[in-house]
Amino acid sequence: MPLRAARLEGFGTTIFTEVTALAQRTGAINLGQGFPDTDGPTEVIDAAVAALRSGQNQYAPLAGVQALREAVLEHQRAYYGLEPEDVLVTFGATEAIAAALLGLVNPGDEVVVLEPYYDSYSACIAFAGARRRPVTLRPPQFALDPDALDAAAGPRARVMLLNTPHNPTGRVLDRASMEAVARVCVEHDLVCISDEVYEYLVYDGEHIPIATLPGMAQRTLTISSVGKSFSVTGWKVGWCSGPTELVAAVRDVKQFLTFAGGTPLQHAAAAALRLPPVHLEALCHDLRTKRDLLCAGLTEAGLRPLSPAGTYFINADVGTDAVEFCRSLPERCGVAAIPTSVFYDDADAARTLARFAFCKREDVIAEAARRLAAPSPTS
Ligand SMILES: Cc1ncc(COP(=O)(O)O)c(C=O)c1O
Repeated sequence: MPLRAARLEGFGTTIFTEVTALAQRTGAINLGQGFPDTDGPTEVIDAAVAALRSGQNQYAPLAGVQALREAVLEHQRAYYGLEPEDVLVTFGATEAIAAALLGLVNPGDEVVVLEPYYDSYSACIAFAGARRRPVTLRPPQFALDPDALDAAAGPRARVMLLNTPHNPTGRVLDRASMEAVARVCVEHDLVCISDEVYEYLVYDGEHIPIATLPGMAQRTLTISSVGKSFSVTGWKVGWCSGPTELVAAVRDVKQFLTFAGGTPLQHAAAAALRLPPVHLEALCHDLRTKRDLLCAGLTEAGLRPLSPAGTYFINADVGTDAVEFCRSLPERCGVAAIPTSVFYDDADAARTLARFAFCKREDVIAEAARRLAAPSPTS
């Protein structure tokens, strides 16, 4: 008797687990995983403590605590001029993505998705019994080809799964690309699931929520979370917002996945969203400095970084097979990174690229750069 469901095929232990174990064993600086090594704003941590101490420790309502739902709506209005009909709090953006795919896609449907992609996308598309139709972003520009986008939206296409600012490329889609996405969604009558968890981590250009484009608000489910914007990735408080019907489909799935969780952290997330914009500006400024620091360090080490416009990842051309490079890097140099090809179906599209996270303290980045430069990481 097989002990695992067939749909798990290909979704076992990932290179993330392998690289993390390697980093731990060798004491390497782990730039493979994208989480900050400093805490978020004191006000936000204090709000969590206050919520814990004031009895906010039982199940939240299925839709999420009211304060956070209101804060998300206010936020979408204030920052983007959007008026979503409904909002649902989820266990990180990850649960929103999973529940959205399970709730909006039928077995046999196709999901158009930018490749490379965040690793949960392919798993959740498969769990929904759907098929992915990747549109490949190729280095060094990672530009979106509107014709490829159009070609991917065949008769079985039901959903466009969009991510900008984009992990792992660091690309922030410009207005022309966003208009191309919107046009394809409207022409092919697609629902757009828009993952915007890096909405504030933009250093060049601007983040344009797809729901702000003509014809899109009524067909877009916008997803974000508190983790990246407020440096609390371990909290896993996320949300989705949009038209009543789309949010209801996600809610119907979510109620049987986790129902509700993290009540005190939901209260703190509401406090985070209500902080003055200066906090997000400071985060962005800080990360831009770190991006430039790591880009300089990678260049110094003889690698060729592709400076990202957003997120907290830099892809660098390591000039050789990046899977082997990343497997040996912790031992050789005391630094860990992830081969970018693992985010592609078409692994050849980024064979020599490795992804390095720069959401680390400046002294940590400087030490990683020093280790990478001596001895030569390509030796
Ligand atoms: C593109 C993208 N979406 C979603 C997530 C997960 O967000 P959360 O931690 O809120 O579940 C990540 C985290 O790395 C990500 O890179």
